[in-house]
Amino acid sequence: MTKRVVHIVGTGTIGEPLIGLFSSLRDHFGIDEVTFHKRTPLSHERAKVESLIRRGGKLVVDEDRVDDFERLGHKVSFTHGEALERASVVIDCTPVGNENKPRYEEVAGPKVFMAQGSEYGFGQPYARGINDEALDLTQRFVQIVSCNTHNISVIIKTLAADGDGKLRLARGRFVCMRRATDISQAKGFIPAPEVGKHKDARFGTHHARDAWGLFKTLGYDLDLFSSAIKLNTQYMHTLHFSLDLERPITREEAVARLRDNPRVALTEKLSAALVFSFGRDHGYYGRILNETVVPVSTLHVSEDGKSLSGFCFTPQDGNSLLSSMACALWYLYGEDPAPRLEGVRPWMFDEI
Ligand SMILES: NC(=O)c1ccc[n+]([C@@H]2O[C@H](COP(=O)([O-])OP(=O)(O)OC[C@H]3O[C@@H](n4cnc5c(N)ncnc54)[C@H](OP(=O)(O)O)[C@@H]3O)[C@@H](O)[C@H]2O)c1
Repeated sequence: MTKRVVHIVGTGTIGEPLIGLFSSLRDHFGIDEVTFHKRTPLSHERAKVESLIRRGGKLVVDEDRVDDFERLGHKVSFTHGEALERASVVIDCTPVGNENKPRYEEVAGPKVFMAQGSEYGFGQPYARGINDEALDLTQRFVQIVSCNTHNISVIIKTLAADGDGKLRLARGRFVCMRRATDISQAKGFIPAPEVGKHKDARFGTHHARDAWGLFKTLGYDLDLFSSAIKLNTQYMHTLHFSLDLERPITREEAVARLRDNPRVALTEKLSAALVFSFGRDHGYYGRILNETVVPVSTLHVSEDGKSLSGFCFTPQDGNSLLSSMACALWYLYGEDPAPRLEGVRPWMFDEI
């Protein structure tokens, strides 16, 4: 029987937890092996690499770096070329997925190659729970959209869809208040809020463009616009949304729609620090895997019921991790991964 091998490229903010998640959930997901590629041999990252190996991952390095990694004391299991040939699923977690794509195109074995948020155009866009029905398993390249695109999209899909599942959104406006850096990053912090340019004539920033692209796969041509501002925090991104609906709803209905979506967490907490801290104590190594966390008291519905606004928190990178796992399972088994994703249920919350 063919082995199911998941190969993850990159051990940074996204790669590191993904290697850990696939390794710990190997039995649950029915995966035979997890391999991971690290590009640069670094003595200060030796502990991280050894920990990932202890958790079940197999180290993969470039052909010309094997000696360097072995000199650091690591056991190298495969070269990158070998690992790509044996993989069933390849998840690129680097900021250069598009640059790596020509190499992937030459490899016949894997059922799917994924790249992450920054790699626009890498393949069909995907977010779990948003466009599963549009995921074309005959296409081998998929872009897992960014964490903020997940958040925008889940807010649209949850609040603007009627009982029949059809979106009735007249327009959506979003302000992405982004954390300056991740807690794993020691560079790039900013001393004060920094506003972002509107580089896209139609969408403002790429966040609305990417959400538009996701819903385009479902046949919608939504009127979306986003702005971005970086805040001098390492906690979660915060999103302000403002939706105009074609049909009125009550505030109670809006709250019920949020509550009924298992990928949305509700909270009474108003501080990103408190939500983040909950994740630290109850998440997967600090991460919750919900697509958004909505402080319910910020939800406002206009008197005519057609305009909704409020705030929500983007759970760091948890939603991209969930979609990467869901996408891998879709391609491995060719069916909805809901039963296998029950394995990550402990890190998805209704209430925070
Ligand atoms: N950070 C987030 O919260 C977040 C959320 C959602 C999506 N994303 C997306 O995830 C992707 C990765 O972001 P990240 O934050 O995880 O990056 P990161 O922490 O900077 O890590 C980048 C990783 O990629 C590796 N790498 C860099 N260039 C490479 C190359 N040319 N070939 C092979 N490996 C290379 C690095 O390896 P070495 O260190 O060994 O050189 C490192 O392990 C981006 O597309 C980003 O948009 C990030």
